[in-house]
Amino acid sequence: MTSADNYILVTGGAGYIGSHTILVLLNAGYKVVAVDNLSNSSRESLNRAARLSNVEGEVPFHQIDLQDVQSLRKVFQKYSIKGVIHFAALKSVGESVEKPLLYYRNNITGTLNLLDVMVEFGVKDIVFSSSATVYKADPKNRPLKEDCDLGCINPYGRTKYFMESIIKDVVDSQEGWNAIMLRYFNPTGAHPSGDMGEDPQEIPNNLMPYVSQVAIGKLEKVHVFGNDYDTIDGTGVRDYIHVMDLAEGHLAALKKLGEKKCGFDVYNLGSGTGYSVLEMIRAMSKACGHDIPYIFDKRRPGDLGTVVCDPSKSEAELGFKVKHGLEEMCADLWRWQSNYPNGYND
Ligand code: NAD
Ligand code: WQD
Repeated sequence: MTSADNYILVTGGAGYIGSHTILVLLNAGYKVVAVDNLSNSSRESLNRAARLSNVEGEVPFHQIDLQDVQSLRKVFQKYSIKGVIHFAALKSVGESVEKPLLYYRNNITGTLNLLDVMVEFGVKDIVFSSSATVYKADPKNRPLKEDCDLGCINPYGRTKYFMESIIKDVVDSQEGWNAIMLRYFNPTGAHPSGDMGEDPQEIPNNLMPYVSQVAIGKLEKVHVFGNDYDTIDGTGVRDYIHVMDLAEGHLAALKKLGEKKCGFDVYNLGSGTGYSVLEMIRAMSKACGHDIPYIFDKRRPGDLGTVVCDPSKSEAELGFKVKHGLEEMCADLWRWQSNYPNGYND
């Protein structure tokens, strides 16, 4: 896909990963239109993406819920859309266990509506936000390759697995589709300006936003979930990836869609390197210049000791390689957190 006159529709574009990706797409010369229902984000993220980019003007934005198929159709009527990056989803594992129907309705129905409208308008290129969570929780699968067994243990993960499967069935049913599933590992960090970042609306579930809120004094201490895993220091090891690298991964995927007819394909986006919870807390302490209090707590149900990807397929086929290391992830996260302790509300 080239950066000619056509638009890339970015669903969930006001969110954490969506807004950083839009900035990278704008700088690469793509025209972008964003839709989002703002259920977990703020319009301000798109103002910042536009301001930090090399491009004049605002990001065209429509506040739309993907449940509302008529409004979505109007966006396809208004813009000449060449391809879609589909981020819009609810993403809290814990909430999905409490409210499975909300997750199935929002994530699955939203995707069905999007695909329906894509079929109607003959748009057949899609990049989809999938997740490491679709892999079967088997300690033997280390590092995780794209062809490892799949299997999910919570409703959120199952929505990602089902959405991948639905997209695959659509690709198989009609000529001409190109679909890339990007399985993200653990996104963190923020734009290096410190003006864009993750803006959790509630108490964060993920480690790094929690750690950064402890660092700024909004939360008291980090609860480290388990210190008896078979890892370097007993705490959980994950494959953290800087959000700007992740954004570049979407650009690489869009380019891949344009290069050749790829049909349906899947790529891991991670670094291939794992860090423990204690290593992450120490790195963040270094970035903020003071100790970050923590206590050891019991294991979180469903967690594995180590989850790290094998990035060799995305390196070989997308030309994707992470550029930002642990220090930059923490320095950029801290710049954002300390500039805007209350996120985009500040
Ligand atoms: P986010 O919550 O910041 O972004 C998702 C956006 O989608 C939000 O702006 C939200 O308002 C919007 N949205 C949700 N439901 C919608 C609907 N029905 N209609 C329109 N907009 C809707 O989350 P993020 O971290 O940027 O994640 C983006 C995508 O990446 C999600 O699909 C998520 O599941 C996936 N993902 C995230 C992570 C992670 O750790 N952040 C890891 C793997 C995969
Ligand atoms: C990382 C490590 C925890 C919080 C989740 C989703 C996954 C994907 C990414 C969307 C683990 C430990 C955490 C805390 C802790 N999201 N931890 N104290 O679990 O690898 O993946 O986010 O697709 O689907 O499951 O990320 O950041 O929650 O945890 O000790 O307060 O930090 O046990 O070892 P996870 P995480």
